[in-house]
Parts: sequence; structure tokens; C-alpha cells
Amino acid sequence: MSDKQNLSHHGVEERTFIKKHANPLLELLYNRASCRAFLRKRVSDKVMVDILEASIKSATGGNLQPYSIIRISDSEKRKTLAGLCGQNFIAEAPVNLLFCIDWRRLQRWAALEKAPFSAQRSFRHFWISFQDTIISAQNLCTAADSIGLGTVYIGTIIEHFLKLKKIFKLPKLVFPVILLCLGYPKAKPVPRKKLGIDVIVHDEEYHELDDSTLLNAFGRKYEGQKISASEENIKKFYETCKNVEGEKFADECLKNVKDKGYISPVQRYFGLHYRADEMSRGNEKFMKVIKKFGFNWFEDIHR
Ligand SMILES: Cc1cc2nc3c(=O)[nH]c(=O)nc-3n(C[C@H](O)[C@H](O)[C@H](O)COP(=O)(O)O)c2cc1C
Repeated sequence: MSDKQNLSHHGVEERTFIKKHANPLLELLYNRASCRAFLRKRVSDKVMVDILEASIKSATGGNLQPYSIIRISDSEKRKTLAGLCGQNFIAEAPVNLLFCIDWRRLQRWAALEKAPFSAQRSFRHFWISFQDTIISAQNLCTAADSIGLGTVYIGTIIEHFLKLKKIFKLPKLVFPVILLCLGYPKAKPVPRKKLGIDVIVHDEEYHELDDSTLLNAFGRKYEGQKISASEENIKKFYETCKNVEGEKFADECLKNVKDKGYISPVQRYFGLHYRADEMSRGNEKFMKVIKKFGFNWFEDIHR
């Protein structure tokens, strides 16, 4: 059986492939899931060091490690984060880790040893350090999973960057990227369905799926998920559609929902949850926030 066949066929062949190659790490990766319910059990310093060591060994552009991790155990701070993000389990996780881009340390190193430094003005540097930060977070997640801990990323900190700057005393050029909740799971989290490699992976070049293959793939992933077409949901959904594409489009969307009798997962994602009208607002505000953290790589554009 060739690797190409494995990419394009699901079912028996794929299972045979997994069985043949599986080792404990692959099994861990195949079965991973986010954890949102934690035991009231402390994570020991020894365990913390073990997983943090795995995190800081990650690949990083130029081996520069332009990131810092704020370890948050204080229960008041965890409660504050839970309140800001509107997710109670953040306070229940015994440890929160705030992964930040950090060019400050390298800026200081350069200043102390008389080297030129302009990372704060370089989108390239920002982009690479964002990737470095996430990669180190993900390695920590895998390390944590491997010793029976659970983790979940919290992305909603994006709405509160300036508050985090204050609470955690982040100096200029230290920019929060993602929060991670860490602790012992109350129960083993159940893996969620994903699109398969037949959809995600493209051989040699990008191949557009035909409409029915695409719909079937999403249909399998979200099988049986129908969101109630309640008056409230319909009102919100209609409003979003109208704000983004106008009344005619909103009428078409509404008819689609009424004909089906429910709101589908993609209609929920972009019509109710990550509202397409709200999400695309505030870009300028984010630019200003990034600037307050000392980065100004976008200023070039306006010059
Ligand atoms: C960048 C990012 C941000 C996320 N933000 C949140 C969040 O704010 N709250 C939450 O409960 N889960 C969050 N998650 C977890 C996702 O909801 C989760 O990964 C997704 O539903 C898939 O489930 P799985 O991780 O169990 O496979 C986030 C994940 C990522 C990668």
C-alpha cells in the first residue's frame, strides 16, 4: 500500500496504517482533546518543570526563543482571567500559562552587547515570533498530555490585551498570544471529529474539492448537529447576514433556515457565534493595541 493511497482513502486502509505505525506518542496525538473540567489537584513544581522543559526545547526561528511564559497559580488572578474571558473553568484549572511574544529580552541583550536591533519595526520578526510562541505552547500541551494532565487554549484574551499588560506587568515588546489552562482532568476528554487528511492534505499542489465532496466532508464532521431555529437565534442570524451582505442575502439565508427547520453548523459559526459582522470590526483598534506594546511594523505602510 503506497502512502498516496493512505492519503486518499479512509477506512480499512487508514486503520491498517495506523495500527502498523502507532507508538505511544502517535496514539496520544490521535486521541488528544481539549480539557475544560479540572480536578482540585495541585500540579507539583517537578511536573511543571518537566513540561516547561519540553516547551522551551521547541523549534524556534534562528534559535532565538523570542517568547516568555507567565505561570499563573494565584487564584485571584485566575478568577480575574476567568471573568475577563467569561469562562469559569479557567479559574478551576490550577495553573494558567500566558504565552507571550518577547522581543524585550533580545532587545536588552542587543543593547548590552552593542548590536543593532529593529525587531519592533519588522513584521517578519513579529510573524516568526508568533509562530515560535505557539509551537512552544503546543509542545507543552503534548508533554502535559503524555503525563496525564489536560490543557485547553483560551483565545478570547484577544479582547483584553491591555488589561493583561497591566495585570501581568508586561513591558514593551512582550505581547500576549495565547492563554493555556492546565491541570488534571476530571474525566478523559472525548476527541472531537475532524476533517480527514483526504480533505486537509493536497498532493503536490492545491486541489479544490468539488461542492458535494466538500459538503459531505463537513456533513460527516458535524453529523447530527442542528441548532434550534428559535425566534432569538433567527433574529440574530438575520441581523448578521444583513449587516454583512445586505437584505436580499439575509432573506435568502432566512428562507434556507426556515425550509430546513434548523440552523446548520456553518450558519451558527459565522451567523451567531463568531459573528461575521462583529469579527471584521475593530482592526484599527488592534493596530493601536499592538502599537501600545511597542511594535510599529505597520507604520511603514502609512509613510
Ligand atoms: C487558538 C485557539 C483558541 C482557542 N480558544 C478557546 C477558548 O477561548 N475557549 C475554549 O473553551 N476553547 C478554546 N480553544 C479550544 C478549541 O475550542 C478546541 O481546540 C476545538 O474545539 C477542537 O477541540 P479539541 O481541541 O478537543 O480537538 C481554542 C483553541 C485554539 C487553537
